[in-house]
Amino acid sequence: MMELRKEFKGRSFLAIKDFTKEEFLYLIDLAAELKAMKKRGEKHRYCEGKNIALLFEKSSTRTRCAFTVAANDLGAAPEFLGKDDIQLGKKESVEDTAKVLGRMFDGIEFRGFSQEVVEELAKHSGVPVWNGLTDKWHPTQMLADFLTVKEHFNRLEGITFVYVGDGRNNMANSLLVSGAKAGMNIRICSPATLFPEKEVVDLAESIIKENGMGSVMVTADINQAVEGADVLYTDVWVSMGEEDKFEERVKTLTPYQVNMEMIKKTGKEDVMFLHCLPAFHDTNTTYGKSVYEKWGLKEMEVTDEVFRSKYSHVFDQAENRMHTIKAVIAATMGEKEEA
Ligand code: CP
Ligand code: NVA
Repeated sequence: MMELRKEFKGRSFLAIKDFTKEEFLYLIDLAAELKAMKKRGEKHRYCEGKNIALLFEKSSTRTRCAFTVAANDLGAAPEFLGKDDIQLGKKESVEDTAKVLGRMFDGIEFRGFSQEVVEELAKHSGVPVWNGLTDKWHPTQMLADFLTVKEHFNRLEGITFVYVGDGRNNMANSLLVSGAKAGMNIRICSPATLFPEKEVVDLAESIIKENGMGSVMVTADINQAVEGADVLYTDVWVSMGEEDKFEERVKTLTPYQVNMEMIKKTGKEDVMFLHCLPAFHDTNTTYGKSVYEKWGLKEMEVTDEVFRSKYSHVFDQAENRMHTIKAVIAATMGEKEEA
């Protein structure tokens, strides 16, 4: 087992930009080790006796389950607190809530709208706070995505990683910065109206410059973006909290759907398809049905054919959410050496 490095102890995990390249890569490798330990049936209870709070303002399957299972495997007790369960924001400020939770819990996960809220929790709680997704960043997802890429290609540096779709959501922002950090050729392909904010592109470019490795491309041109892609990634066209935007997104993003034609355009036989999930690849969901009824589209950001194809690694990626979140909890909160 890799040792739990002391410099992570007590730190929050709010955005990948806050970590050095080396720290980012360490967390991915630690997750790989914890995954191997779990597969071998070896105990790894580095957080025995600790308690963690799981705050969710938005829905979640993977993140919630990953935090819960990871906490249990590490010997910590997770407590789920949904948006209607606590006073946060309604009768009590973020600052006061942070101070109360910090007196009882050893770590706090937060998923919600505002990045400022997760930062405020970290500022006032006195314990590690982990960002389980905000409108701006989705940092735990990055560790899972890059572990999945590393497992497949055995490297991260030099990988051509192409994200197609809504270019200014939390996933595009996070992949841009994380891809730059890992020394990848990171490309964001979306209509110009959905290009990432300049601030995020500038940040990615400054990281590339500092590390002397990788590149950034932002383009609306699909052919230019996907040629030579090792990884083709997409996300929902409408993120949580912007459900009034379906009509506009169906119109602007339909040409950016990941389908077999796009896979072929990469020119790579072993191109990986990734998606953070949940995905709209059929009409077996309420939203999927409604989009079909209103605009006649049976699949949105990815076709069912690609989703179920040999190129797709989305369920390995989903499993890796748990191993990587475990690494974050262990590194920032763990202390007990294996007996
Ligand atoms: N990818 C992801 O964060 O999934 P959930 O919304 O189910 O947590
Ligand atoms: N961009 C998506 C990611 C879900 C994991 C959302 O915020 O809804």
